[in-house]
Amino acid sequence: MNHLSERLNFLLNTALKYNGHFYDLCCDHGQLGIKAYESNHFIHSYLIDVVPSIINKLKDICSDIPESELSILLKDCTKLEFSNKLSKIIVIAGIGGKLSIRILENIMPQLTHDDIIILSPHNNLEEVRCYLSQNKYYCEDEHLIRERQKFYEVLEIRKQAKVESNIGLVGKFESSDKEVKLSYFKKNIDYYKVKLRFNKEHKTNEELLSLYQERLKSYE
Ligand SMILES: C[S@@+](CC[C@H](N)C(=O)[O-])C[C@H]1O[C@@H](n2cnc3c(N)ncnc32)[C@H](O)[C@@H]1O
Repeated sequence: MNHLSERLNFLLNTALKYNGHFYDLCCDHGQLGIKAYESNHFIHSYLIDVVPSIINKLKDICSDIPESELSILLKDCTKLEFSNKLSKIIVIAGIGGKLSIRILENIMPQLTHDDIIILSPHNNLEEVRCYLSQNKYYCEDEHLIRERQKFYEVLEIRKQAKVESNIGLVGKFESSDKEVKLSYFKKNIDYYKVKLRFNKEHKTNEELLSLYQERLKSYE
């Protein structure tokens, strides 16, 4: 199999910090889940997507791999039921923020505190962060990566009991590359400035603009 893109490689390396059953939700090409299986690090890997042609193609590609090690499942992840209670590493990446929230709403009651979700939606990040905070998720770490001029937030999160969430509307990305962070904050500042030009009184956008400006200041 070909090399993973920088983004997928980052997701795989993040997952490799944890042990258990690996889930590549909304897997599409399946590259991440197949590499996870090939790493021999996880007890079992699951590739899951809702499109039959994607799943059939993956079953062909992986026909030599025993089903006891890799499962390829045709399922809607907004209705997914996990079949095992062992520790899970669940990757939800490359899909929109709204769909990510619907998937999280479905899986949350099934999660234990041992499970880790590696979450990297491609839009509506602030809405996702707001959902995570309101539902008391705990963020183990957060990263910002750039691939071909596009930015990707990557959050390692867990379900958490009563304590307040540590997830803010805007990330800090402490361990991420400084230049990438500065470009990302500047891009979002420009974006919210334009939005506010058309709707001056929008409280959430005002708050987001000032949060991104604060972040920029703290790293400049
Ligand atoms: C752009 S691909 C993302 C692939 C991969 N996760 C990545 O990060 O490169 C989005 C995939 O999500 C799948 N998808 C969309 N809604 C889904 C759902 N409700 N359940 C399972 N898969 C879904 C689509 O079929 C598509 O293959």
